[in-house]
Amino acid sequence: MTPDKTQEQPLLKTVALKKYFPVGGGMLHAVDGVSLEIAKGKTLGVVGESGCGKSTLGRLVLRLLEATSGEIYFEGRDIRKLSNEEMKAVRPQMQIIFQDPYSSLNPRMSVYELIAEPLIMNHVCKNKKELNMRVLGLMRTVGLATRFVSAYPHEMDGGRRQRVGIARALALQPKFIVCDEPVSALDVSIQAQILNLLMDLQDELGLTYLFITHDLSVVKHISDEIAVMYLGQCVERASSEELFKQPKHPYTKALLSAIPIPKLRPDRKKHIIRGEVSDPIDPKPGCRFSLRCEMCKDPCMGRDVELKEVSQGHFVACRMYEEPGFADDK
Ligand SMILES: Nc1ncnc2c1ncn2[C@@H]1O[C@H](COP(=O)(O)OP(=O)(O)O)[C@@H](O)[C@H]1O
Ligand SMILES: [Mg+2]
Repeated sequence: MTPDKTQEQPLLKTVALKKYFPVGGGMLHAVDGVSLEIAKGKTLGVVGESGCGKSTLGRLVLRLLEATSGEIYFEGRDIRKLSNEEMKAVRPQMQIIFQDPYSSLNPRMSVYELIAEPLIMNHVCKNKKELNMRVLGLMRTVGLATRFVSAYPHEMDGGRRQRVGIARALALQPKFIVCDEPVSALDVSIQAQILNLLMDLQDELGLTYLFITHDLSVVKHISDEIAVMYLGQCVERASSEELFKQPKHPYTKALLSAIPIPKLRPDRKKHIIRGEVSDPIDPKPGCRFSLRCEMCKDPCMGRDVELKEVSQGHFVACRMYEEPGFADDK
């Protein structure tokens, strides 16, 4: 009997995850109540403008940063409750790929040393011969020719540097990888190669991704589901296909209409985002997007809007979808 997919426990799940940073004038709400789930072997894309909390979210779920409150379940266990010792056993299974491999790779280390480092630190190999085999195997896996084994980061182009970053992330055979803008620093032609590599690796190794980007056009093909973030909150979540076909939140619509591909949605209306992102320090309750929203009305202010399932698997946090008739006179 095939297992019922809907009953399967997600590989990663967060509940009301928050991270507030104390800053001069108060508390900066970097991540403000994000609940999400990612099924094993799937990709959740996280999109939103710079500063909306994407990287903070990525670091929180890996516990590279301690959350202010909320829950983070990895394979069903709340990893915020694990001891340091227990966390040590989980860490290798959760890895991160950074935006700029140039700044995340030690410039004084060769490709060999960079890829060998996590293997050595975690005592994975019995001897030098096994280490050599593993490093060369990882280079093959990420499509990096063995002639680069003694090269230094500055001797390679951005795409090859990112392949080294990916090899490092794969070294400990993780189940889950946070990809934080992994192609944003790369030339467009190389972006596609790296995205294809990540998708192939997912198929081969059964990896689960949280894929962060500010660029919706990058995330479309790699994501099964997409979460749209605005000022620390998730304002919409749906399957990738549904989100592009039927965006519901005014912010998502504006983001989509800003993609400069004329054929993407020939019938689409232009939604221009007015004004500036509001202050993330001690934000007032209510929809964070309301000051810029063309649909905004009084009820949008005053109380936070929860994500609500408006059709199967499609969630949106907007008063328009809470109150029938809300948008009628607009
Ligand atoms: N260590 C920190 N101290 C104070 N504020 C921070 C810190 N890290 C991030 N922030 C703030 O949190 C918000 C979200 O940042 P970030 O997660 O980097 O956004 P994104 O990755 O979407 O660009 C921003 O307003 C940023 O200035
Ligand atoms: Mg970021």
